[in-house]
Amino acid sequence: MKLEQILENLSLDAGNAKTLFAKAMAVKKQFYGDKIYLRALIEFSNICSKDCYYCGIRKSNLSIPRYRLTQEQIIEAASSPLALRCANVTLQSGEVENPNFADEIAKTVREIKRATQNKVRVILSCGEQTREVYKLWKEEGVNRYLLKIESSVPKLYSKLHPENHSLQRRKESLVILKELGYQVGSGMMVGLPFQTTEDIAKDLLFFKEYNIDMCGLGPYVEHSDTPLYNLKEIPSKEYRLFTSYKAIACLRLLMPDINIVPATSHDALDPKGKLTALMCGANVVMLNLTPPEERKHYKLYQREQSQLDKDITAQITELGAEIAYNDFGDALHFTKENN
Ligand code: 5AD
Repeated sequence: MKLEQILENLSLDAGNAKTLFAKAMAVKKQFYGDKIYLRALIEFSNICSKDCYYCGIRKSNLSIPRYRLTQEQIIEAASSPLALRCANVTLQSGEVENPNFADEIAKTVREIKRATQNKVRVILSCGEQTREVYKLWKEEGVNRYLLKIESSVPKLYSKLHPENHSLQRRKESLVILKELGYQVGSGMMVGLPFQTTEDIAKDLLFFKEYNIDMCGLGPYVEHSDTPLYNLKEIPSKEYRLFTSYKAIACLRLLMPDINIVPATSHDALDPKGKLTALMCGANVVMLNLTPPEERKHYKLYQREQSQLDKDITAQITELGAEIAYNDFGDALHFTKENN
Protein backbone atom coordinates (compact mmCIF):
# COMPACT_ATOMS: atom_id res chain seq x y z
CA MET A 1 0.00 0.00 0.00
CA LYS A 2 1.22 3.43 -0.96
CA LEU A 3 0.50 6.61 0.94
CA GLU A 4 -2.45 7.49 -1.32
CA GLN A 5 -4.11 4.14 -0.73
CA ILE A 6 -3.68 4.36 3.01
CA LEU A 7 -5.17 7.85 2.92
CA GLU A 8 -8.15 6.53 1.00
CA ASN A 9 -8.66 3.73 3.50
CA LEU A 10 -8.37 6.04 6.47
CA SER A 11 -11.07 8.26 4.96
CA LEU A 12 -13.64 5.52 4.34
CA ASP A 13 -17.12 5.99 5.78
CA ALA A 14 -18.70 3.38 8.04
CA GLY A 15 -20.36 1.47 5.20
CA ASN A 16 -17.25 1.19 3.06
CA ALA A 17 -14.91 0.56 5.98
CA LYS A 18 -16.60 -2.81 6.50
CA THR A 19 -14.80 -4.14 3.43
CA LEU A 20 -11.47 -2.88 4.78
CA PHE A 21 -12.10 -4.55 8.15
CA ALA A 22 -13.10 -7.81 6.46
CA LYS A 23 -9.90 -7.79 4.39
CA ALA A 24 -7.78 -7.13 7.48
CA MET A 25 -9.51 -9.96 9.35
CA ALA A 26 -8.91 -12.36 6.48
CA VAL A 27 -5.20 -11.51 6.51
CA LYS A 28 -5.04 -11.85 10.27
CA LYS A 29 -6.70 -15.24 10.04
CA GLN A 30 -4.25 -16.37 7.40
CA PHE A 31 -1.32 -15.65 9.71
CA TYR A 32 -2.68 -16.05 13.22
CA GLY A 33 -5.84 -18.10 12.79
CA ASP A 34 -8.50 -17.26 15.35
CA LYS A 35 -5.96 -16.92 18.14
CA ILE A 36 -5.80 -13.94 20.45
CA TYR A 37 -2.60 -13.68 22.49
CA LEU A 38 -2.56 -12.38 26.05
CA ARG A 39 -0.10 -10.16 27.89
CA ALA A 40 -0.19 -9.30 31.57
CA LEU A 41 0.52 -5.61 32.09
CA ILE A 42 2.18 -4.30 35.24
CA GLU A 43 2.48 -0.52 35.40
CA PHE A 44 5.21 -0.63 38.00
CA SER A 45 6.02 3.08 38.31
CA ASN A 46 4.49 6.39 37.31
CA ILE A 47 7.66 8.37 38.00
CA CYS A 48 8.64 10.09 34.76
CA SER A 49 11.34 12.52 33.69
CA LYS A 50 9.54 13.39 30.46
CA ASP A 51 6.98 16.12 30.00
CA CYS A 52 4.86 15.07 27.02
CA TYR A 53 2.03 17.54 26.52
CA TYR A 54 -0.66 14.84 26.26
CA CYS A 55 0.28 12.52 29.10
CA GLY A 56 -1.20 12.50 32.60
CA ILE A 57 1.96 11.20 34.27
CA ARG A 58 4.18 13.91 32.77
CA LYS A 59 6.78 15.28 35.14
CA SER A 60 5.05 18.64 35.59
CA ASN A 61 1.75 17.15 36.70
CA LEU A 62 2.09 17.70 40.43
CA SER A 63 -1.46 16.63 41.20
CA ILE A 64 -0.77 12.89 41.26
CA PRO A 65 1.11 10.92 43.90
CA ARG A 66 4.11 9.11 42.47
CA TYR A 67 4.69 5.43 43.20
CA ARG A 68 6.99 2.63 42.41
CA LEU A 69 6.12 -0.97 43.17
CA THR A 70 8.64 -2.90 45.24
CA GLN A 71 10.46 -5.78 43.63
CA GLU A 72 8.34 -8.15 45.75
CA GLN A 73 5.11 -6.61 44.48
CA ILE A 74 6.25 -6.85 40.87
CA ILE A 75 7.32 -10.46 41.22
CA GLU A 76 4.10 -11.37 42.99
CA ALA A 77 2.04 -9.96 40.13
CA ALA A 78 4.36 -11.40 37.48
CA SER A 79 4.19 -14.92 38.86
CA SER A 80 0.48 -14.90 39.69
CA PRO A 81 -1.64 -17.64 38.15
CA LEU A 82 -3.16 -15.22 35.64
CA ALA A 83 0.25 -13.91 34.53
CA LEU A 84 1.43 -17.49 34.08
CA ARG A 85 -1.60 -18.29 31.95
CA CYS A 86 -0.78 -15.22 29.83
CA ALA A 87 2.83 -16.53 29.54
CA ASN A 88 3.82 -12.92 28.99
CA VAL A 89 4.53 -10.09 31.40
CA THR A 90 4.87 -6.49 30.28
CA LEU A 91 6.56 -4.16 32.73
CA GLN A 92 5.79 -0.55 31.96
CA SER A 93 6.86 2.65 33.66
CA GLY A 94 7.54 6.30 33.13
CA GLU A 95 10.92 7.12 31.66
CA VAL A 96 13.79 7.25 34.14
CA GLU A 97 17.41 7.16 33.10
CA ASN A 98 19.83 6.31 35.87
CA PRO A 99 22.12 3.42 36.75
CA ASN A 100 20.16 2.41 39.87
CA PHE A 101 16.93 2.13 37.94
CA ALA A 102 18.65 0.12 35.22
CA ASP A 103 20.19 -2.28 37.74
CA GLU A 104 16.98 -2.76 39.66
CA ILE A 105 15.06 -3.60 36.52
CA ALA A 106 17.77 -6.08 35.60
CA LYS A 107 17.46 -7.70 39.02
CA THR A 108 13.68 -7.79 38.86
CA VAL A 109 13.74 -9.44 35.44
CA ARG A 110 16.19 -12.04 36.69
CA GLU A 111 13.92 -12.80 39.64
CA ILE A 112 10.83 -13.07 37.45
CA LYS A 113 12.57 -15.51 35.14
CA ARG A 114 13.65 -17.53 38.17
CA ALA A 115 10.32 -17.42 40.01
CA THR A 116 8.42 -18.50 36.90
CA GLN A 117 11.05 -21.02 35.79
CA ASN A 118 11.34 -19.18 32.51
CA LYS A 119 7.70 -19.77 31.72
CA VAL A 120 6.96 -16.16 30.85
CA ARG A 121 8.26 -13.85 28.20
CA VAL A 122 9.24 -10.49 29.67
CA ILE A 123 8.50 -7.30 27.78
CA LEU A 124 9.85 -3.96 28.95
CA SER A 125 8.43 -0.56 28.18
CA CYS A 126 10.61 1.96 29.99
CA GLY A 127 11.34 4.56 27.35
CA GLU A 128 14.59 5.78 25.85
CA GLN A 129 17.76 4.34 27.36
CA THR A 130 21.38 4.04 26.31
CA ARG A 131 22.56 1.11 24.21
CA GLU A 132 24.38 -0.20 27.29
CA VAL A 133 21.20 -0.31 29.34
CA TYR A 134 19.20 -1.97 26.57
CA LYS A 135 22.05 -4.49 26.28
CA LEU A 136 22.10 -5.16 30.02
CA TRP A 137 18.35 -5.87 30.01
CA LYS A 138 18.61 -8.06 26.93
CA GLU A 139 21.31 -10.11 28.62
CA GLU A 140 18.99 -10.65 31.59
CA GLY A 141 16.60 -12.36 29.24
CA VAL A 142 14.16 -9.60 28.31
CA ASN A 143 12.46 -10.75 25.12
CA ARG A 144 10.75 -7.69 23.75
CA TYR A 145 10.84 -3.93 24.05
CA LEU A 146 8.03 -1.53 23.47
CA LEU A 147 8.85 2.07 22.52
CA LYS A 148 6.04 4.02 20.96
CA ILE A 149 7.03 6.70 18.51
CA GLU A 150 3.73 8.54 19.25
CA SER A 151 4.21 10.48 16.02
CA SER A 152 6.97 9.95 13.48
CA VAL A 153 6.24 13.26 11.75
CA PRO A 154 8.60 15.98 13.05
CA LYS A 155 6.10 18.83 12.78
CA LEU A 156 3.47 17.01 14.82
CA TYR A 157 5.99 15.49 17.23
CA SER A 158 7.20 18.98 18.10
CA LYS A 159 3.67 20.13 18.88
CA LEU A 160 3.24 17.26 21.33
CA HIS A 161 6.57 17.41 23.12
CA PRO A 162 8.86 20.02 24.68
CA GLU A 163 11.90 21.05 22.67
CA ASN A 164 14.33 18.89 24.62
CA HIS A 165 12.47 15.68 23.65
CA SER A 166 14.17 14.19 20.63
CA LEU A 167 12.31 12.35 17.91
CA GLN A 168 15.69 11.47 16.46
CA ARG A 169 16.82 9.73 19.63
CA ARG A 170 13.57 7.78 19.75
CA LYS A 171 14.07 6.59 16.20
CA GLU A 172 17.68 5.67 16.95
CA SER A 173 16.54 3.74 20.01
CA LEU A 174 14.30 1.60 17.83
CA VAL A 175 17.27 0.82 15.59
CA ILE A 176 19.48 -0.09 18.56
CA LEU A 177 16.80 -2.38 20.00
CA LYS A 178 16.57 -4.21 16.67
CA GLU A 179 20.34 -4.53 16.48
CA LEU A 180 20.42 -6.06 19.95
CA GLY A 181 17.98 -8.75 18.89
CA TYR A 182 14.85 -7.63 20.69
CA GLN A 183 11.41 -8.18 19.31
CA VAL A 184 10.63 -4.52 18.86
CA GLY A 185 7.30 -2.83 19.31
CA SER A 186 6.30 0.71 18.57
CA GLY A 187 3.03 2.54 18.42
CA MET A 188 1.10 5.73 18.12
CA MET A 189 -1.97 7.69 19.15
CA VAL A 190 -4.75 8.39 16.70
CA GLY A 191 -7.01 11.43 16.78
CA LEU A 192 -4.57 13.84 18.39
CA PRO A 193 -5.20 17.56 18.12
CA PHE A 194 -3.17 18.90 15.13
CA GLN A 195 -2.87 15.39 13.62
CA THR A 196 -3.88 15.06 9.96
CA THR A 197 -4.89 11.88 8.15
CA GLU A 198 -1.61 12.15 6.28
CA ASP A 199 0.29 12.15 9.59
CA ILE A 200 -1.42 8.89 10.53
CA ALA A 201 -0.65 7.33 7.15
CA LYS A 202 2.99 8.36 7.47
CA ASP A 203 3.22 6.73 10.90
CA LEU A 204 1.95 3.46 9.46
CA LEU A 205 4.58 3.63 6.73
CA PHE A 206 7.16 4.48 9.38
CA PHE A 207 6.40 1.19 11.16
CA LYS A 208 6.97 -0.63 7.91
CA GLU A 209 10.20 1.23 7.22
CA TYR A 210 11.53 0.45 10.71
CA ASN A 211 10.50 -3.16 10.30
CA ILE A 212 8.85 -3.40 13.71
CA ASP A 213 7.53 -6.70 15.06
CA MET A 214 4.62 -5.38 17.08
CA CYS A 215 2.53 -2.27 17.36
CA GLY A 216 0.31 -0.76 20.03
CA LEU A 217 -2.17 1.63 18.61
CA GLY A 218 -5.00 3.51 20.27
CA PRO A 219 -7.04 6.68 20.29
CA TYR A 220 -5.82 9.83 22.00
CA VAL A 221 -7.77 10.42 25.20
CA GLU A 222 -7.77 13.86 26.76
CA HIS A 223 -6.48 14.60 30.24
CA SER A 224 -7.45 17.91 31.84
CA ASP A 225 -4.16 18.23 33.75
CA THR A 226 -2.10 18.39 30.57
CA PRO A 227 -1.17 21.32 28.30
CA LEU A 228 -2.71 19.73 25.21
CA TYR A 229 -6.16 19.76 26.80
CA ASN A 230 -6.95 23.42 26.22
CA LEU A 231 -4.72 24.04 23.26
CA LYS A 232 -6.91 23.03 20.40
CA GLU A 233 -10.24 21.42 19.78
CA ILE A 234 -10.19 17.67 20.37
CA PRO A 235 -11.60 15.49 17.56
CA SER A 236 -14.83 13.71 18.47
CA LYS A 237 -14.71 10.40 20.32
CA GLU A 238 -16.35 8.71 17.36
CA TYR A 239 -13.71 10.03 14.96
CA ARG A 240 -10.85 8.98 17.22
CA LEU A 241 -12.16 5.45 17.73
CA PHE A 242 -13.26 4.85 14.16
CA THR A 243 -10.00 6.19 12.72
CA SER A 244 -8.00 4.02 15.12
CA TYR A 245 -9.86 0.93 13.87
CA LYS A 246 -9.16 1.85 10.26
CA ALA A 247 -5.49 2.48 11.13
CA ILE A 248 -5.28 -0.99 12.71
CA ALA A 249 -6.82 -2.57 9.62
CA CYS A 250 -4.40 -0.70 7.32
CA LEU A 251 -1.45 -1.78 9.43
CA ARG A 252 -2.60 -5.42 9.28
CA LEU A 253 -2.61 -5.16 5.48
CA LEU A 254 0.76 -3.40 5.41
CA MET A 255 2.46 -5.79 7.85
CA PRO A 256 0.44 -9.01 7.88
CA ASP A 257 2.61 -11.00 10.29
CA ILE A 258 3.23 -8.52 13.13
CA ASN A 259 1.47 -8.53 16.50
CA ILE A 260 -1.03 -5.70 16.82
CA VAL A 261 -2.26 -4.64 20.24
CA PRO A 262 -5.14 -2.27 20.91
CA ALA A 263 -4.05 0.35 23.47
CA THR A 264 -5.67 0.55 26.91
CA SER A 265 -7.04 3.89 25.70
CA HIS A 266 -9.55 2.09 23.47
CA ASP A 267 -11.56 1.09 26.49
CA ALA A 268 -11.42 4.57 27.94
CA LEU A 269 -13.59 5.79 25.06
CA ASP A 270 -15.76 2.73 24.60
CA PRO A 271 -16.22 -0.29 26.88
CA LYS A 272 -16.15 -2.47 23.78
CA GLY A 273 -13.21 -0.60 22.25
CA LYS A 274 -10.55 -3.29 22.56
CA LEU A 275 -12.97 -5.92 21.39
CA THR A 276 -13.86 -3.91 18.30
CA ALA A 277 -10.15 -3.44 17.57
CA LEU A 278 -9.76 -7.24 17.63
CA MET A 279 -12.45 -7.42 14.95
CA CYS A 280 -10.50 -4.97 12.75
CA GLY A 281 -7.18 -6.81 12.64
CA ALA A 282 -5.57 -6.65 16.10
CA ASN A 283 -4.53 -9.99 17.64
CA VAL A 284 -3.23 -9.31 21.15
CA VAL A 285 -4.88 -8.17 24.39
CA MET A 286 -3.29 -6.73 27.50
CA LEU A 287 -4.74 -7.63 30.89
CA ASN A 288 -3.89 -5.09 33.53
CA LEU A 289 -2.47 -6.69 36.67
CA THR A 290 -1.25 -3.50 38.34
CA PRO A 291 -2.42 -3.58 41.97
CA PRO A 292 -5.57 -1.38 42.22
CA GLU A 293 -4.12 1.06 44.75
CA GLU A 294 -1.27 2.07 42.42
CA ARG A 295 -3.25 1.66 39.26
CA LYS A 296 -5.39 4.63 40.31
CA HIS A 297 -2.33 6.81 39.88
CA TYR A 298 -1.18 5.50 36.52
CA LYS A 299 -3.50 7.76 34.67
CA LEU A 300 -2.06 8.50 31.27
CA TYR A 301 -5.45 9.90 30.37
CA GLN A 302 -8.81 10.21 32.04
CA ARG A 303 -10.40 6.87 32.57
CA GLU A 304 -12.75 5.16 34.91
CA GLN A 305 -11.35 2.57 37.26
CA SER A 306 -11.85 -0.33 36.00
CA GLN A 307 -14.44 -2.79 35.15
CA LEU A 308 -12.33 -3.12 32.03
CA ASP A 309 -10.55 -6.43 31.90
CA LYS A 310 -12.91 -8.53 33.93
CA ASP A 311 -14.86 -10.16 31.23
CA ILE A 312 -12.84 -9.42 28.14
CA THR A 313 -11.72 -13.04 27.85
CA ALA A 314 -15.35 -14.21 27.96
CA GLN A 315 -16.27 -11.62 25.33
CA ILE A 316 -13.42 -12.67 23.08
CA THR A 317 -14.61 -16.25 23.21
CA GLU A 318 -18.14 -15.09 22.38
CA LEU A 319 -16.75 -13.52 19.21
CA GLY A 320 -15.60 -16.95 18.11
CA ALA A 321 -11.94 -16.22 18.72
CA GLU A 322 -9.70 -18.50 20.69
CA ILE A 323 -7.64 -17.23 23.60
CA ALA A 324 -4.13 -18.56 23.41
CA TYR A 325 -3.43 -19.37 27.04
CA ASN A 326 0.10 -20.54 27.91
CA ASP A 327 1.32 -19.33 24.54
CA PHE A 328 4.28 -16.95 24.15
CA GLY A 329 2.66 -15.59 21.04
CA ASP A 330 5.84 -14.26 19.48
CA ALA A 331 5.32 -12.15 16.39
CA LEU A 332 5.64 -14.36 13.30
CA HIS A 333 7.40 -11.42 11.70
CA PHE A 334 10.19 -11.82 14.24
CA THR A 335 10.27 -15.61 14.28
CA LYS A 336 10.62 -15.76 10.51
CA GLU A 337 13.46 -13.26 10.39
CA ASN A 338 15.32 -14.93 13.22
CA ASN A 339 15.16 -18.54 12.15
N1 5AD B 1 -4.12 9.32 25.30
C1 5AD B 1 -3.83 8.09 24.80
N2 5AD B 1 -2.68 7.47 25.03
C2 5AD B 1 -1.79 8.10 25.81
N3 5AD B 1 -0.57 7.74 26.19
C3 5AD B 1 -0.06 8.70 26.97
N4 5AD B 1 -0.93 9.71 27.09
C4 5AD B 1 -2.02 9.36 26.36
C5 5AD B 1 -3.25 9.98 26.07
N5 5AD B 1 -3.54 11.19 26.57
C6 5AD B 1 0.02 6.49 25.74
C7 5AD B 1 1.23 6.80 24.89
C8 5AD B 1 2.36 6.22 25.70
C9 5AD B 1 1.70 5.17 26.52
C10 5AD B 1 2.41 4.82 27.76
O1 5AD B 1 0.44 5.72 26.81
O2 5AD B 1 1.13 6.11 23.66
O3 5AD B 1 3.37 5.67 24.95
